[in-house]
Amino acid sequence: METILDGKKISAEIRREVKEGVETLRRERGVVPGLAFITVGEDPASLAYVAMKERACSEVGIRSGQFSFPRFTTEKELVGKIGDLNADPDIHGILIQLPLPAGLDSTAILSAVSPEKDVDGFHPFNMGKLLLGRKGFCPCTPKGIMELLIRSGGEWEGKDVVVVGRSNIVGKPLAALLMQRARGANATVTLCHTGTRNLSLHTRRADIIVVAIGKPLFLTADMVREGAVVIDVGMNRLEDKGSERGYRLVGDVNFAEVSRKAGAITPVPGGVGPMTIAILLSNTLDAARSPQCV
Ligand SMILES: NC(=O)c1ccc[n+]([C@@H]2O[C@H](COP(=O)([O-])OP(=O)(O)OC[C@H]3O[C@@H](n4cnc5c(N)ncnc54)[C@H](OP(=O)(O)O)[C@@H]3O)[C@@H](O)[C@H]2O)c1
Repeated sequence: METILDGKKISAEIRREVKEGVETLRRERGVVPGLAFITVGEDPASLAYVAMKERACSEVGIRSGQFSFPRFTTEKELVGKIGDLNADPDIHGILIQLPLPAGLDSTAILSAVSPEKDVDGFHPFNMGKLLLGRKGFCPCTPKGIMELLIRSGGEWEGKDVVVVGRSNIVGKPLAALLMQRARGANATVTLCHTGTRNLSLHTRRADIIVVAIGKPLFLTADMVREGAVVIDVGMNRLEDKGSERGYRLVGDVNFAEVSRKAGAITPVPGGVGPMTIAILLSNTLDAARSPQCV
């Protein structure tokens, strides 16, 4: 296995595959995959992510469109727009950019997306299928993490995996994915959170540690055993007056010290982040190939 789990390189490989798939679909069936983004409010980080995802779509030949709503949009208005997009045959995927502004019920809004167009895999129906080990759309970051290790020559099978963080978008679906009796999974998973007593006790015995908590440089070398694989999902802005933007991006892992001890590790940026976008493209292609796939 490579020491640096290079998400940039491996995501480029997936994007190439998606691009070929999109071309074949267009040639053989005249179908061009279409992805709709719904944004609410003006959160600069969210708008930047959507812009990045739109660029990625255009590079592989997926049509995309952004539907922007003001901060104080009602749930009814959003659900109405989602209903229109559900009924639009040219739209194969619908992505609601999270987090939604306070006051909006994200579960209700995500549940309005047709499960067949739920390329983010956040609909309760797809979440349930994931837990049951049935085919459906799988959330992009967990799937990206899984692929990153496998395509780097590593494996999850039989490994003692500790996931730190139990969010609905990363920790929980990743644990559900890795625990399945399935090829590429079949790991023994421990899910840790703020209620975990003595976190180090768990991380120090893990073969693979995945950290998704949103706390800059949290995982230190003393929390990791020699040779462990460390996957850093965190994306945190640390103030940096020396940089042009006034901040730099760091993960939840103290890369400088943990990388000296780990057998393999993801960098931030260039690790999990690009994988998330590549899997979004791949899920959108799947949705366009077989709209009844879920
Ligand atoms: N690279 C990507 O594509 C990508 C995608 C998604 C998210 N992210 C990044 O990943 C990070 C996590 O985001 P998220 O949305 O998954 O998480 P989130 O919703 O912010 O939840 C954080 C989770 O971490 C747990 N936690 C916080 N502090 C902890 C501690 N000291 N010890 C143990 N557990 C702790 C929390 O536990 P409780 O449940 O007990 O509160 C919670 O389950 C963020 O930096 C985010 O930007 C990156």
